[in-house]
Amino acid sequence: MSIEIDKLISEAEKVLDNSYAPYSRIRVASAVLCSDGRVFTGVNVENSSYGLTVCAERTAIFNAVTNGCRDFRAIAIVTDFDEPLTPCGACRQVMIEFVSDIIIVSKSVKTGIVKEYRLSELLPHAFKLKR
Ligand code: THU
Repeated sequence: MSIEIDKLISEAEKVLDNSYAPYSRIRVASAVLCSDGRVFTGVNVENSSYGLTVCAERTAIFNAVTNGCRDFRAIAIVTDFDEPLTPCGACRQVMIEFVSDIIIVSKSVKTGIVKEYRLSELLPHAFKLKR
């Protein structure tokens, strides 16, 4: 794994404690690497009305977009769950809105297991409108 990806994982790890997950107790954090080198992070934010929960990946992507970055090169996901998480369908769709493909690296800080995917393999035949 490249130093760049290692750094992205460690940026996500830095905010993992800020995850708000009192219901599932699965803490998740994410970091997005932009093409200009900037990194934006996010955590999962749950709610008493469960359906309002927002995943860490979407929080990180919306944080990047808010700060003027729409061109991502990679996204890291870290969790204290037993195994690395793959992004949910909603987050995959949000990713494909901005990029044609992206490296997705996912780590369980509990076990140290790291998995790497490409968005194109996790979301084939994606729905996307022409802009
Ligand atoms: N979650 C994420 O933040 N990212 C994922 O990739 C999968 C799931 C969150 C949502 C919820 O707060 C908790 O993990 C359990 O589903």
